[in-house]
Amino acid sequence: MIEALAARSIRALHAGAYDDAIINEAIDHAYGVDWQLVRDGTYFVAAIAGSVVGAGGWSYRQTIAGAHGPDDPPANLLSPVADAARIRAFYVDPDYARRGVGVLLLSASERAALDMGFTRAELTATLPAVPFYAAYGYEPAGRYDLALPSGRLLELRLMTKRLILPA
Ligand SMILES: CC(C)(COP(=O)(O)OP(=O)(O)OC[C@H]1O[C@@H](n2cnc3c(N)ncnc32)[C@H](O)[C@@H]1OP(=O)(O)O)[C@@H](O)C(=O)NCCC(=O)NCCS
Repeated sequence: MIEALAARSIRALHAGAYDDAIINEAIDHAYGVDWQLVRDGTYFVAAIAGSVVGAGGWSYRQTIAGAHGPDDPPANLLSPVADAARIRAFYVDPDYARRGVGVLLLSASERAALDMGFTRAELTATLPAVPFYAAYGYEPAGRYDLALPSGRLLELRLMTKRLILPA
């Protein structure tokens, strides 16, 4: 279900930002769900009238990006003192884009990371998602190219933010 949502979201909201070949390959090999987040209880869904309209979460593990299956071994843990929590795998149903679903999921993720003692968050943003994260206080921190099986590169942006407990 989340994989289908991710594919729908990417196809509609990435059009024009990447070429079709990259989008198709990335849907098959890079986007989707990191099942470790589900196992860790750090992946959230947003639902309206019982229908899932968005998903996104965070991680206290070292994996930077990409989908990972239910049987993949868990990645090593990050340290809340030394490392930034990772914001991961945000997908909003295109029919519900720009209605605050993404921010709802991002706020929940940041709050959960703060509750675990993290004071910084970082992420790899798709190019069309950069304005979304920037609107929510994330600053550019460089470029990250994710290698796809064909050898082509999915161009992403590293972004970072200091987390502060709401007053
Ligand atoms: C990025 C994404 C998760 C944003 O979700 P969303 O629910 O549409 O975002 P929100 O409605 O919460 O947006 C909050 C604010 O972020 C900014 N924003 C969001 N999308 C934007 C866009 N495409 N361009 C410019 N600003 C944007 C705006 O300031 C917006 O507030 P406004 O609508 O009142 O102007 C969604 O576009 C998406 O799923 N994209 C495809 C998948 C993807 O690339 N995910 C990111 C992986 S790193």
